[in-house]
Amino acid sequence: MIELVCASANPDKVAEMAEVLAGHAVLLPRPEGVGDVAEDADDLTGNARLKAQAVCQFAGAAALADDTGLEVDALGGAPGVHSARYAGPDAVYADNLARLMADMQAVPPPQRTARFRSVVMVCFPDGSELAAEGVVEGVITVEPRGTGGFGYDPVFAPAEGGGRTFAEMGAAAKNSLSHRARALRALLELLRDR
Ligand code: IMP
Repeated sequence: MIELVCASANPDKVAEMAEVLAGHAVLLPRPEGVGDVAEDADDLTGNARLKAQAVCQFAGAAALADDTGLEVDALGGAPGVHSARYAGPDAVYADNLARLMADMQAVPPPQRTARFRSVVMVCFPDGSELAAEGVVEGVITVEPRGTGGFGYDPVFAPAEGGGRTFAEMGAAAKNSLSHRARALRALLELLRDR
């Protein structure tokens, strides 16, 4: 089974990645000596590459990164690539959620459509890379609901989720249809064909 060094520092993401990859790839922990990687690319692919390349070079082994954005149609696709810092450079999940709720306050339900998009990338020591994307469509709820998941999960109800937000689903249900799981499954196909 292929071994991939994890290049994502977010433990919430890493837990989901490990669950989806279980039985298909071994996810090794992110080396402690790798510092923070500035995620200042223009798009998700560029940020995933920055993270995966940094860890690949440090570890001398194939490294896997994820970069994710929430695209809200009524906000012209924001926060998108800026999802982690939507409420400011030091924003935590609750800050970003509060800003999103405030920005969406006047937007009526039919116009609250949104999607999560994930790009996952493996960088190899020989300089090659493989990337895949996963998308899940849904809506931004009027109020946060649920205690599971992380980030924007309490306000995102996937179209195929029977009205529940990601935070109201268990981990297995989220992983059955999430942007990240879809991207990882597509990546596993590419890794198999490599
Ligand atoms: P990044 O991919 O590290 O830039 O993270 C983007 C931000 O989007 C994170 O800080 C979270 O707030 C949010 N995010 C990423 N993935 C998810 C998810 O699966 N559910 C909810 N929020 C997420």
